[in-house]
Amino acid sequence: MDKLVIEGGVSLNGVIAVSGSKNAALPILFASILLDAPTTFTNVPNLRDIHTTIKLLTLLGCACDFADNTVCMTPGTLTAEAPYDLVRTMRASVLCLGPLLARLGQAKVALPGGCAIGARPVDQHLKGLEKMGAHFDLDAGNIIGRCTKLHGAHITFDMPTVGGTENLLMAASLAEGETVLENAAREPEIVDLANFLISCGARISGHGTSCIRIQGVSSLGGTTYPIMPDRIEAGTFLVAAGITNGNLLVKNCPWQELEAVILKLQSMGMVLEKHPEGVLARRGEAGLRSVDVQTRPFPGFPTDMQAQLMSLMCLAKGSSLVEESIFENRFMHVSELLRMGAHIRVTGRSAMVRGVEHLTGAPVMASDLRASASLVLAGLAAHGTTHVRRIYHLDRGYENIETKLNAVGARIRREQE
Ligand code: UD1
Repeated sequence: MDKLVIEGGVSLNGVIAVSGSKNAALPILFASILLDAPTTFTNVPNLRDIHTTIKLLTLLGCACDFADNTVCMTPGTLTAEAPYDLVRTMRASVLCLGPLLARLGQAKVALPGGCAIGARPVDQHLKGLEKMGAHFDLDAGNIIGRCTKLHGAHITFDMPTVGGTENLLMAASLAEGETVLENAAREPEIVDLANFLISCGARISGHGTSCIRIQGVSSLGGTTYPIMPDRIEAGTFLVAAGITNGNLLVKNCPWQELEAVILKLQSMGMVLEKHPEGVLARRGEAGLRSVDVQTRPFPGFPTDMQAQLMSLMCLAKGSSLVEESIFENRFMHVSELLRMGAHIRVTGRSAMVRGVEHLTGAPVMASDLRASASLVLAGLAAHGTTHVRRIYHLDRGYENIETKLNAVGARIRREQE
């Protein structure tokens, strides 16, 4: 197993580029199950979750080729089974459920099970598909879905769910008649999926709002599609500039899609400016100050940036309050930050962070993807050496992270344990 060894205390300066979005690429790749013609995806990040998706799509019958951040996908004869061995390593595998039902009228997908950041049920995906005419049974840990032909339906989600909205958006694109998704999630990755489907011939409107309308079509063709930049990776780099007191041009950093994060960082005393190639980020003269934050569905502050922001709060003047309202168990990074000298008190879904003068390097354990990123950020700022263990989580979501950070001055090396 690899670990990252970080020599902290160096300011990061220069240009750092954002890769394609993992969370946009995953559903878009799964959407190729719906297509009748070859498709090319560009700006696909080279990440473990992408390789898992490609493995799964190959098992399901698509021919995939992945090189130089480009995936060429050719549809083949589909099969309906997504096995547990792959699904358990990546929850997003459940996104093949809607497309398989729409294409084959059947699907057998292993239930993803729990994960480090909470129970994460898929009831909303299933309820929606049931309204469209599917029936589900649970057999030996697998969801078995069947339908004759999916039909349009009026579906109101109990809560805005990103994966649920994506699964139903894909299924509805090939269903008979009109589907209306109410209380739909509005995340930019959903907009990217809808735009991809539209470029293949789907009829979708209202994406990016909480009411999406889809007129089913009988088939979808192929296209060439660039995946949007990763707003969470971008946000992580903005924090890297602030936490190391550096000066970064974060290339391809989307401003609008990251506005909630940008506003928070500005309230904390960071200077963020639009630049033709992205966003310029540095700490302001007055230093970092505390701020309160509550995670919310888009356009609110993203839960995927909570851990990274908390690392920054550890070094801000005053006390910051973090409320995690999306996932019930997403403070796994706290115990590790405490090992580095942070002052944080967790009560239920809230964490009170009291800023300290400095963090100290320590051996720490990554527990999930974004928690890992927060520990890398803390390690970059800390006095001394930090060993971040179990970084396979990080490799699921950040492309070449140590290469990118080292190119702007970080001192990080990857070692085998
Ligand atoms: C996606 C992102 C993840 C991000 C999350 C929230 C991908 C691959 N992952 O995850 O990085 O942290 O959005 O922005 O894009 N829920 C239910 N029943 C359901 C579905 C969801 O109760 O059927 C609940 C969840 O437990 C959670 C909330 O709804 O409390 C939001 O989850 P959801 O938006 O579905 O997250 P994911 O799509 O799994």
